[in-house]
Amino acid sequence: MSSVDSNDKWAALRSAQVPPADGDNDLTSPDPESYTGKRDIPQPQPLERHGPARVIAMANQKGGVGKTTTTINLGAALAEYGRKVLLVDFDPQGALSVGFGINPHTLDLSVYNLLMQEDVDIDDVMMKTNVAGLRLLPANIDLSAAEIQLVNEVAREQTLARVLRPVIPDFDFVLIDCQPSLGLLTINALTAAHSVLVPLECEFFSLRGVALLLDTVDKVRERLNYDLELDGILATMYDSRTTHSRQVLQRVSEAFGDKVFSTVIARTVRFPETTVAGEPITTWAPASSGARAYRQLARELIATVEK
Ligand SMILES: Nc1ncnc2c1ncn2[C@@H]1O[C@H](COP(=O)(O)OP(=O)(O)O)[C@@H](O)[C@H]1O
Ligand SMILES: [Mg+2]
Repeated sequence: MSSVDSNDKWAALRSAQVPPADGDNDLTSPDPESYTGKRDIPQPQPLERHGPARVIAMANQKGGVGKTTTTINLGAALAEYGRKVLLVDFDPQGALSVGFGINPHTLDLSVYNLLMQEDVDIDDVMMKTNVAGLRLLPANIDLSAAEIQLVNEVAREQTLARVLRPVIPDFDFVLIDCQPSLGLLTINALTAAHSVLVPLECEFFSLRGVALLLDTVDKVRERLNYDLELDGILATMYDSRTTHSRQVLQRVSEAFGDKVFSTVIARTVRFPETTVAGEPITTWAPASSGARAYRQLARELIATVEK
């Protein structure tokens, strides 16, 4: 049921423009879950054994929508619930690596080496983080060369899937932080993934981009990865004070129904601050609303995928 289908609502979203303020709609509630739907989210059960991992691509070709922030903090929250998590930095900007206090320029080995050199072992690239159970495959600007070099490889779209395969049994979740484009690296992430999680900034113009992303997800499913699912759309940067945010949330919920996570991530300066701190918000400001929101998202995701 969680596969993407191209129904009419999606088609409507594909042409989504800035909607006029609709007098019939009750946009008075600042509570985001009044738009996405409140759900009972169970406490995750402890796992008796680990793996195989569910691989999730965090994708949106628009930059600055919260992909990296979501990868870091959802990953950390899943690890808090006792899940073994591997984060893959798949953006040559290396923002995910920076988010864990790593200087990407000083890396001896990165995802680039893993993709391009047969003799590099994934265990030698993997790094520990400040969070127990949370590992990282770091990246830096070298990865931009992979995009070009991979073009001439056999099965170029399957390269990431191939290099991740040996560690899939060891983890419960692998989260891939995609770069802001729909190029070959993102196609590799979508091919390696069981599902896609789309962070969506609460801005009208972000709606249009999602249509293009979903077209790409459709194509990857038809041609490369028949079982690729959509885990959901995560509304980010929600500002409860503006009707604009509320309208976007309502529109997204109308279009995607139960594919929209009930959890909504509010806009707060705590997130940019954590980048400077070099650790997830769940450890840096454990009691903050941002940390609580990502824990709730982790519970929602676990309830969806561990059925
Ligand atoms: N909920 C939020 N509220 C405020 N700022 C945020 C939020 N989520 C992310 N940010 C900030 O916005 C910027 C872009 O977020 P990021 O996660 O890097 O997006 P992407 O990976 O999609 O480009 C970063 O500076 C980040 O700290
Ligand atoms: Mg990013």
